[in-house]
Amino acid sequence: MSNSDTIGRRGFLAGAASLAAGATLVGRTPASAVPVAEGVTKFAFPTDRRVRVLVTGDAGTGTRTQWAVADAMRAFHGREPFSLALGLGDNIYEHGPGGAADVQFADKFENPNAGLDFPWLMVLGNHDNSSVLGGDGGWLLRGNLEVEYHATSQRWWMPSRYYSVRIPERNPVVEFFVLDLNPLAAYVPPVFSPYWAVDGQFMNEQRDWLDRALSDSPAIWKIACTHHPYLNNGPHGSAGCYEGLPIEPINGVHVKRFIEDHVIGRCQFILSGHDHSLQVLEPTAASKGTRQIVSGAAAKTVGAEPRITANPGLGALYENFHELGFMVLELTGDAVDLRVHTVDLASGASAEAFRRRLA
Ligand SMILES: [Fe+2]
Repeated sequence: MSNSDTIGRRGFLAGAASLAAGATLVGRTPASAVPVAEGVTKFAFPTDRRVRVLVTGDAGTGTRTQWAVADAMRAFHGREPFSLALGLGDNIYEHGPGGAADVQFADKFENPNAGLDFPWLMVLGNHDNSSVLGGDGGWLLRGNLEVEYHATSQRWWMPSRYYSVRIPERNPVVEFFVLDLNPLAAYVPPVFSPYWAVDGQFMNEQRDWLDRALSDSPAIWKIACTHHPYLNNGPHGSAGCYEGLPIEPINGVHVKRFIEDHVIGRCQFILSGHDHSLQVLEPTAASKGTRQIVSGAAAKTVGAEPRITANPGLGALYENFHELGFMVLELTGDAVDLRVHTVDLASGASAEAFRRRLA
């Protein structure tokens, strides 16, 4: 049994003790990307120049709701095949995996998504990095287990905590920049570990990597993928006023700064989850043309919960807080088209709720 298989409770306690002692426990960065295990063949990335992306988020419950939405995705895939998928975080509720071979990967990812046989670009969410309370984001090292799972799964793509993928690889139509902003957004901030701090090694390396990757990118469309949204009309709020809280840093002020310094004006889109809703927001004056899209309703919805009062109420082409669903982003060299599909849990029926050429 490998070390990662036994990390669970014992690993957590050992890690917590190391942290208290000031030891550095490092994240899986592109410099320490996980190789694919011998004998494992990953699903291939598409090579054509029409890229149809399944956009999902907050899916990892393993419950009937996840299956209902996945059934609708399978039906769509039967009519119009997807090229690849995005899983925008909270991949394994409630606390994340207990090891890289945890059965939760089968129950909450592989089995519900059977037949959706293409690469899934996965983003780390707060639930994937939790310690005591599900979603607290207080045990960042746990996210490394989801990176290690990259080695053995055909569909799960997460070679490091942050990474980019060009589609197609040569002369790309689109490049996805998958980010790990969990150290900036945790409800239990990593205050005892300089490595994970706002200006610590992990975030500084990620900033440098992103700046370089964006300026080197030959892609026509550049898309940042984060779990925590920059802009958001849902109850979690926008970065800088997460949860309507005036308390730094859990109000997301550092997420706001990161995105404003490194992402907006350089990527056409930010795709995020976290809020269990479907939102196609309008760019704001501050966002320099970058459009925020939220797709986090693949297993849960916000429901009747009202919007948080601290939120300014951003302009939206479409927003839906009470229905399950997924999005389909279609990219060519000339255009970007988005569709939103909602799913009715009782009947399992799926309907197109929104369709628009965004660029
Ligand atoms: Fe979340």
